[in-house]
Amino acid sequence: MADTAHFGAREVPLADKQVLVDGVFRSVARRYDLMNDLMSFGLHRAWKDALVTAVGPPKTRPFALLDVAGGTGDIAFRVIAAGGERTQATVCDINADMLAVGRERAAKRSPGDAVTFVEANAEALPFPDRSFDAVTIAFGIRNVPRIEQVLTEAFRVLRFGGKFICLEFSAVDMPGLDRLYALYSSAVIPALGRMVVGDAEAYRYLVESIRRFPKPEAFAAMLRAAGFARVSYRLLTGGIVALHSGWRL
Ligand SMILES: C[S@@+](CC[C@H](N)C(=O)[O-])C[C@H]1O[C@@H](n2cnc3c(N)ncnc32)[C@H](O)[C@@H]1O
Repeated sequence: MADTAHFGAREVPLADKQVLVDGVFRSVARRYDLMNDLMSFGLHRAWKDALVTAVGPPKTRPFALLDVAGGTGDIAFRVIAAGGERTQATVCDINADMLAVGRERAAKRSPGDAVTFVEANAEALPFPDRSFDAVTIAFGIRNVPRIEQVLTEAFRVLRFGGKFICLEFSAVDMPGLDRLYALYSSAVIPALGRMVVGDAEAYRYLVESIRRFPKPEAFAAMLRAAGFARVSYRLLTGGIVALHSGWRL
């Protein structure tokens, strides 16, 4: 249906999904980074490193990154560390609590001012056309009500020759690992959520949203439909995660 969206296993009015998603991240913000390490056995670090390698920030040229749904700033900090002195990152997220954690992290780092935090909706970015060299989104796109709109906006704010890279949970395609992963995500992750964050429901939502996200080929087709060229993807860790990329040419 055109004006409904999935919130976990539930079908909800499109307008309600964002409010529900915001509630999830408000609830988990303070312990979000710890939960990532616990849930993924630290693997999210390797997945994020693969994304940063794909971004490939230059060492000498100026480089402007927009990290959409950037939460606590993990991707931005990594890209700044990998790039040269003229690398700048903007973290855009709809959730003030996630951004507050990111700003605290930035204040403890140097150079803190290489990262700017902006509260905004990925579906309506408050940036001019063609203003970034790269746009990234990590574990964010499955949370938004209108994926196509986010892709259109990412395309709009990219410069010609700029790259869009998306890291997202995907569909495990390895016999044996798929059953183990299904069991782990339906039983262990919500229990961890209850213990660490005091909110099993938030993590039940996250697991269900992964199940419902388009398969890698279907998502690649969405990137092409949004205008991206040379779209490709690769699966990491047996397909637990997919890294998609496309260019604005
Ligand atoms: C799973 S977290 C990912 C955070 C970060 N990218 C990372 O990899 O650690 C998903 C983020 O998407 C954000 N988000 C959800 N809907 C959004 C929207 N419409 N626009 C911008 N951010 C959104 C949430 O607030 C949350 O911070």
